[in-house]
Amino acid sequence: ESESPGDLRTPIVAVLGHVDHGKTSLLDEIRGSAVIDGEAGAITQHIGATAVPLDVVSEVAGSLVDPTEFDLPGLLFIDTPGHHSFSTLRSRGGALADIAVLVVDVNDGFQPQTEEAIRILKDTGTPFVVAANKVDTIPGWNPTENAPIKQTYEAQTDRVRSQLDEKLYELIGELSGAGFSSDLYWRVQDFQANIGVIPVSAMTGEGVPDLLTVLMGLAQRYMKSEMEVNIDGPGAGTVLEVKDEQGFGKTLDVILYDGTVRKGDTIVVGAKNQPIVTEVRALLKPRELAEIRTEKRFEDVPEMQAAAGLKIAAPDLDDAMAGAPVRVVGDRDVATVVEEVEAELAEVAVETAEEGVVVKADTLGSLEALANAMQEAEIPVMSAEVGDIAPRDVAMATTADDDKHRTILGFNVDVLADAERKADEENVRLFDSDVIYQLVEDYETFVEERER
Ligand code: GTP
Ligand code: MG
Repeated sequence: ESESPGDLRTPIVAVLGHVDHGKTSLLDEIRGSAVIDGEAGAITQHIGATAVPLDVVSEVAGSLVDPTEFDLPGLLFIDTPGHHSFSTLRSRGGALADIAVLVVDVNDGFQPQTEEAIRILKDTGTPFVVAANKVDTIPGWNPTENAPIKQTYEAQTDRVRSQLDEKLYELIGELSGAGFSSDLYWRVQDFQANIGVIPVSAMTGEGVPDLLTVLMGLAQRYMKSEMEVNIDGPGAGTVLEVKDEQGFGKTLDVILYDGTVRKGDTIVVGAKNQPIVTEVRALLKPRELAEIRTEKRFEDVPEMQAAAGLKIAAPDLDDAMAGAPVRVVGDRDVATVVEEVEAELAEVAVETAEEGVVVKADTLGSLEALANAMQEAEIPVMSAEVGDIAPRDVAMATTADDDKHRTILGFNVDVLADAERKADEENVRLFDSDVIYQLVEDYETFVEERER
């Protein structure tokens, strides 16, 4: 794999933001400009991700980037549709992404998913830049395809420029409201103290050279030491999705952030109950465009190195969870690795309080989404776990001091028979639903009725 020379891995960049603000378009534009300008195939499509090697970054960035100043291999972009799947982008260290690009439509400004994303970025301490997208929609905009933003900005009329300025300052104001000091990126000296705002257009490619330059520079300056990993060591990754795939059965779409995974490796995967211990049957990546007409969508490869997006086919994956860890056992003890995975699952990043309700959900992603909804509704959560409602959850609920907290809210889970009986005996109320907001609403109604 060309994207991992030496022992510096590719930084993982999450692209996130409100629906329709242009995340996918921006990635398409990066892919497209590189294919037109240079040799096709330099950019490789991964499962759930796109790898942009350094030579492509420097090609797109033109005079903005001198490739000899860098030794990181490039950037691996993850496109995150919708905010719920973004909440599954977690890893051992907290956030799966090393850096993030928060895409904001300059016309729309902050929207609910923008705020949701900011909150996750803040919680996980993930460094990010803001791509102020769709600058081409400013009335009267005169585009210069793929130009650096300052060049094209200066070529606009005063009227267009001041309209853009106004929108950018609104955005900077909104960022400030969210607790982040920010400025147009060329005025930022210290990217750790200030968020860089980069005006871009995914439609015309304007500002895309700047975006790649800033990301590459940030990664090189601030993240190089974190990228020094043992790339031949046992692989570690996060499950993005568990999917049925014809001819393979249940498969895992994984972002590998550390080490190497090989065909035949024993892996441990976080699951609903016990972690799954299984063996890699196939490692799959998407076929290159030229070969796409063949029946098979995937190419079976012998090994993959971090950072990468890949599909793992293996037996017994039925109970695997999106958002859960995947570990290659390597020459370690299986039991040790199982413990590691269990410990990680136990500490899902849900804020819990001393006093509150118990919540259970079917996946890590939905658990976090449920916990977020609870937080918005200001319902305190004492314990949040993945799995069916079991007697020990009832025992946990009985420790609540306030009777209105002697409850368990279950999202997409079953209630085990003995848990139901125990709940009856102990006077613990159970709520279950497969709609998050329904669950929150049912609980709120229950509280209101009690207080009447
Ligand atoms: P979700 O994945 O659904 O959350 O949306 P997204 O953020 O990936 O947005 P997407 O890239 O699908 O873009 C949404 C719409 O905005 C599409 O119709 C794009 O063509 C349009 N769009 C995206 N970027 C730009 C831009 O820079 N300029 C203009 N004029 N349109 C854009
Ligand atoms: Mg999209």
